[in-house]
Amino acid sequence: MKKKLHLRYAKYSFLLLLFVACQSQPTSYQPLPSEVGPLGEKAMISTAHPLATKIGVDILKNGGNAFDAALGIKFALAVVYPRAGNIGGGGFAVYRMNDGTTGALDFRETAPEASSRDMYLDEEGNVIDDLSIVGHKSAAVPGSVDGILRLHEKHGTKPLRELIQPAINLAYFGFTITQNQAEELNEKRDAFAEVNGPDFFLVKDQPWRAGDTLKFTELASTLTQIRDRGREGFYGGIVADQIAKEMQRGGGLITEDDLKNYTSKWRAPVSGSYRGHTVISMPPPSSGGVALLQLLQGAELYNIKEMGHNTAETIHLKTELERRVYADRATHLGDPDFYEVPVDMLLDPDYNKERFSSISLKKKTDSQDIKEGSVENVESVETTHFSIIDPMGNAVSITTTLNSFFGSKVYVRGAGFFLNNIMDDFSIKPGVPNQFGLVGGEANAIEPGKRMLSSMTPTIVEKDGELKLVLGTPGGSTIITSVFQAIMNVVDHGMGMQDAVNATRVHSQWLPDRILIEERPLDPRVVRKLEKLGHKIEPREAMGRMNCILVRQDGTLEGGPDYTRGDSYAEGF
Ligand code: DON
Repeated sequence: MKKKLHLRYAKYSFLLLLFVACQSQPTSYQPLPSEVGPLGEKAMISTAHPLATKIGVDILKNGGNAFDAALGIKFALAVVYPRAGNIGGGGFAVYRMNDGTTGALDFRETAPEASSRDMYLDEEGNVIDDLSIVGHKSAAVPGSVDGILRLHEKHGTKPLRELIQPAINLAYFGFTITQNQAEELNEKRDAFAEVNGPDFFLVKDQPWRAGDTLKFTELASTLTQIRDRGREGFYGGIVADQIAKEMQRGGGLITEDDLKNYTSKWRAPVSGSYRGHTVISMPPPSSGGVALLQLLQGAELYNIKEMGHNTAETIHLKTELERRVYADRATHLGDPDFYEVPVDMLLDPDYNKERFSSISLKKKTDSQDIKEGSVENVESVETTHFSIIDPMGNAVSITTTLNSFFGSKVYVRGAGFFLNNIMDDFSIKPGVPNQFGLVGGEANAIEPGKRMLSSMTPTIVEKDGELKLVLGTPGGSTIITSVFQAIMNVVDHGMGMQDAVNATRVHSQWLPDRILIEERPLDPRVVRKLEKLGHKIEPREAMGRMNCILVRQDGTLEGGPDYTRGDSYAEGF
């Protein structure tokens, strides 16, 4: 699962060389240059793909609001960002209306009725390799279509028909792929052929190249069904039939009844404070909001500004906080409809003060004695996040996922989209890590109809009752720590949005007991100091693909697309 360094990071290779060179020559270390992201007076959108951003901007310019734009963007990403923006997965939305009211929608996938606790174990109780990760059995009931339609029904203003049409056109007439996308398709060629057969249309004799046109005509039909029949166009009729047939073909579990019964859930967001800011985020079944608020409570006990950005002291402290918070995550968090999740306890400042009281700034704590799994590295970015602020002042923060790169790799024949492999987000056996190295137990065990625990952390931050930040990213278990760092970069280190997003990220998560550091500029003395404190350091290619927005002090909006880590693109007006 460890991925080779992608050519896509070519534009950063000189920095990588610098990073390596700096290991032996500390004096030649050069920090990242400072940069201001795209600016807007009234509105801003940041997504994983320029075409999706432009569709959203057009919707806003034509008088639509953030929820209208979210619908247009979500379906556009299903076409132009199929590896993650797909309709075969699920996700979460956190929003803040211009009057300050907030809400959250959970459209996480659910375990099919025929699923069972030990479905990925063999007769001796051992995990069957890859069964929860690749192929039909790894897919759970998709929630994205229900979610985006429900969100739009409640808060949108423009007709579905008008908003979805640009995505249908892109699917039908095609779009040109980027360099990153060509590489991704080439990289997955064998996996596509293995799961979908050698005649699968994305498997070509010649490698894909930037500028090639990609068409998803079957997906255009599915989107047309949704346009004409709404929710029923996906969860009933021909598309539901195609999904059920695909499942039967490959031994998957999703049935037409599972699809009919799927429903998104409105949830109350979790919120907390951080140095005079209010942080609003996703509650369980995401672990993201709770873990983020715990981490911020811990960080607030220290003078992070004085400790400095990406210094050994700050990284050490973050690691110690993360060790404790991710341990809580493994034991206490799961789907609140199936397991009593102690959210209030985890967010109680007294609890966290006590929990963090064993942290020493002089010495590393060892992660507990749970055996580390055979996870090589955290996988790449198969989830996607987008952030919107509309001219009326509404903000929407949405993260959706297929889980892995193109999900289960199962392409629903006739319907034109990939299905998720999200069942791997359950704890398939207590203590056995999933593909992100995350362990879990009872709270996150498989049960029919249950939602698997997530790390997705769509987040909104207010200052003095006004909107300040819209944040989120893919990255599996690194999502929580990426959002944590972006908030600290702005609040503690005074960075603008683009700088906060560009900054080198580090990550740790209790188990495995190590610190991942992006192969981007970082003072090599910091690494040496961390090693002296006892930390094991591992380099890691880019973590996350953030799409964030900052409301600056003068009220202008600064986009923070992660364009140095992917094709992210922000535009405002
Ligand atoms: O919901 C989750 O936490 C994961 N399925 C997210 C996966 C992800 O971000 C993939 N990118 N690395």
